[in-house]
Amino acid sequence: MHGVTTQETFDAVLGHARDDPRWPPDAIVVTGDIVHDESRAAYQRFRDTFEPFGLPVFCIPGNHDQPALMSELLTTPPFQFCGDAKLGAWRVVLLSTFHKGDDAGVLGRDQLAALEASLSNFTEEHILICMHHQPLPMGSAWLDGVGLHDAQEFLKTIDAHNRVRAVLWGHVHQASDRERNGVRFLSTPSTCFQFLPDSDRAVIDTRPPALRWLALEPNGNITTEVDWVDTDGGGGK
Ligand SMILES: [Fe+2]
Repeated sequence: MHGVTTQETFDAVLGHARDDPRWPPDAIVVTGDIVHDESRAAYQRFRDTFEPFGLPVFCIPGNHDQPALMSELLTTPPFQFCGDAKLGAWRVVLLSTFHKGDDAGVLGRDQLAALEASLSNFTEEHILICMHHQPLPMGSAWLDGVGLHDAQEFLKTIDAHNRVRAVLWGHVHQASDRERNGVRFLSTPSTCFQFLPDSDRAVIDTRPPALRWLALEPNGNITTEVDWVDTDGGGGK
């Protein structure tokens, strides 16, 4: 894809993570667009790759995914498809923004109502929300045209609660780290190519594949870092 063999860059990113002293993490979050061809074989390969680690793998669908196949192939441990999970003092909420036939995302009235109820009912002090599409503008006209359609409703929902500490997404193939109303908003770059930030049309960036580490601290703070992985053997970080 765009001259990148995505399996190779993905393997390099995973290898980089496994060589890090922080490995193994308590869980892995995969923020969608796991496959591009919506094939069963691709999800099976994904399963075969992650299953041996025995770590929880939280999966949410992206615009290129096939949620029906994900809910068939990625629901038995160590995999979890959407829903929520407890991690120490934190509750991780996995939302689907998949909208059939659309590269943009939608949470929808039912999921927003369920989120509203969950945010009141969770007993954990701190909440991390993960989704595929960006709920805040990225400053790129073309990317913001394929963001989250009901972002305003989502922001209103989380504004009414005071335990949401962070919102995390993929989709935009670039790193960002902002704060809004005391909540951290983070995007994670792709394991393949990146998009040039602040560009109004789609331009492939020269930055390498990447992953994000997240330390969810008991006091609600988040320590996070993006590792850029030089796949040409230069060992960049
Ligand atoms: Fe996407």
